[in-house]
Amino acid sequence: MTYILGIESSCDDTSAAVIKNTRVLSNIIANQSVHSSYGGVVPELASRAHQQNIIPVVDVALKQANISKNQLSAIAFTRGPGLLGSLLVGTSFTKSLALALDIPIIEVDHLKAHILAHFLDDDEMINTPGFPFLCLTVSGGHTQIVKVSSPSDMEIIGETIDDAAGEAFDKSAKIMSLPYPGGPEIDKLARIGNSSAFSFPKPKIPDLNYSFSGLKTSFLYFLRDKLKVDDDFIENNKADLAASIQFTIIDILLDKLKKAAKVTGISEIAIAGGVSANSGLRSAITQTAADLGWRIHIPGIKFTTDNAAMIAIAGYFKYQDKDFSTQDITPYARSKFQ
Ligand code: KG4
Ligand code: ZN
Repeated sequence: MTYILGIESSCDDTSAAVIKNTRVLSNIIANQSVHSSYGGVVPELASRAHQQNIIPVVDVALKQANISKNQLSAIAFTRGPGLLGSLLVGTSFTKSLALALDIPIIEVDHLKAHILAHFLDDDEMINTPGFPFLCLTVSGGHTQIVKVSSPSDMEIIGETIDDAAGEAFDKSAKIMSLPYPGGPEIDKLARIGNSSAFSFPKPKIPDLNYSFSGLKTSFLYFLRDKLKVDDDFIENNKADLAASIQFTIIDILLDKLKKAAKVTGISEIAIAGGVSANSGLRSAITQTAADLGWRIHIPGIKFTTDNAAMIAIAGYFKYQDKDFSTQDITPYARSKFQ
C-alpha cells in the first residue's frame, strides 16, 4: 500500500491531502481571506498565511486520513508554477518533514497535477479518462489544450498568448466591482441572466491558441460608454452582463477545443483547473460532447480549484517510477511544462 502526502501552496490556498494508492483519504484546504479587501492576491501576505496554516492543515489531513505520519511512503509537493514565496513554504516544509521521516520527496508541476486529478478515486470522480485524451486546463494563470498520452507524457498543443480564462473572469468581475475572486461571482449571477443580452467580439487567433486580453478591453470600453449615459448601468444589468461575458468566454474556449478534437482525431476530452468549476462551462461542454460524440470527463467541484489531492496523485504516478527529487531542489515561478 502506498500512502502519499500531497502539499499545495502555489497561490493563496494552503492544502494537504493523503491518498492511499489512488483513493482520497483526506483533502484539506485552508483559504486565505486576507486578500479579499485588496481585490487580488498579495504575495507577501500569501506566504505569511501559508506559514501559519501549513502545520495545522497537514495535521488535520493526517488525522482525517486516520494514519500516522510514520506510515507515509513519500511527500509530493508543488514545485511550480506559482508565487515563489508561497511555493517556498510548501517546498521547505516538505523537505524538513521528509528528512525527519526518512522518506522520498517528489516534485510536482501544478498544471500537470490539475490534469492528473482525473485519476483520483473519490465518490465525486465519475469516470477516468483513457489515453490519449485532450485536456482543457483553465485556471487563474493558465489556459492550455494538452494532449495527454500518459501521466508522464503531456504535450501542450494550444495555449493563451496573453490572459488566462480565469483572469478574463476575474478582470471582468473587477470591472463590475464584484468581489475577488470574480469567477464564482460571475458564475452565480450568470445563472439568472440572459446570455444573449450583450455581445462581445471573439478574438481571431491562429491555430489552437487563445487570447483573452482583447475581450477584457472591449468589456471595459463597452461599460465606460454605457456608464456615460446611465450611472446605474452595471447595477441594473449585473446578471445579463455576467451571463453575456461568461457565454463569450465559454464560446471562445469551446471553439478551439472543438478544433483540437478535430485535428487530433481525439474524442476523449477532459477539463481541469479552477474555471472548470464554472457551471456554464460544465453544461456547455456536456452539450458539445453529446452533439459531437465526445467521451467527456468533468472533475468533481472540489478537485477543480487548487487542492493537494491532485498533487498527491501526480506524486503517486512518479512514486511508481521511483522518480524522486533531491533535498537541493528549488521552486520555479514560471511554467517549465511546454
Ligand atoms: O486552478 P485555480 O484554483 O488556481 C490557479 O491555479 O490559478 O483557478 C483559480 C481561477 C480563478 O481565476 C477563479 O476566478 C476561477 O478559477 N474560478 C472560476 C470559478 N471558480 C473558480 N471561474 C469561473 N467560474 C467558477 N465557478
Ligand atoms: Zn491551479
